[in-house]
Amino acid sequence: MLAIGQTPYQKDIDMSFKIEKIHHVAYRCKDAKETVEWYKKHLNMDFILAFAEDHVPSTKAFDPYMHVFLNAGSGNVLAFFEVPNQPEMGFDPNTPNWVQHLALKVQDRDALMVAKAHLEEGGIDVIGVTNHGIFHSIYFFDPNGHRLELTYDDSASETKISMITEEMKQEMLDEWSRTKRAPTHTQFLHSEELAEAKQQVPVGE
Ligand SMILES: [Fe+2]
Repeated sequence: MLAIGQTPYQKDIDMSFKIEKIHHVAYRCKDAKETVEWYKKHLNMDFILAFAEDHVPSTKAFDPYMHVFLNAGSGNVLAFFEVPNQPEMGFDPNTPNWVQHLALKVQDRDALMVAKAHLEEGGIDVIGVTNHGIFHSIYFFDPNGHRLELTYDDSASETKISMITEEMKQEMLDEWSRTKRAPTHTQFLHSEELAEAKQQVPVGE
């Protein structure tokens, strides 16, 4: 009998390793200095490390870069690369700009509202607070065009998450995979936030 993680073609694969956490996440930035200063000014995130080379250590390609690392709390690290020899950065034009984003946690609603006021005072457009049922979020963009989310967990978050069982998750995934239409199992999470939007008739129907 096969153990978990084995297929008939991969009998000796060792699956005893486990991912411990996200070590760091890295994005491209337009200007390393501007980025470091923006994250300090608007999100109070500290600049913890920098390194720079003319050659890329992994590929050995000549591509001078500056790599900066910011403290995202609890041992989490947000990093950026500035690569001035490359064409100006852009984003996938076929992907809506709300899809790819980085969510950062704050303690509670008070912290979120203070952050929102601070961002708006700094001239940044903020969407939300958006009610996701299990957490509540605001959204905005950094100077590089990366979408950021600040969020806090709802006080009933654990109870609500426990309503989404293992079985339900798998069923949703299978249904989506089959139909590419949103399964309705978890609509209770956004019932308040989307009540109005759901009155709208989709274009073409
Ligand atoms: Fe998110």
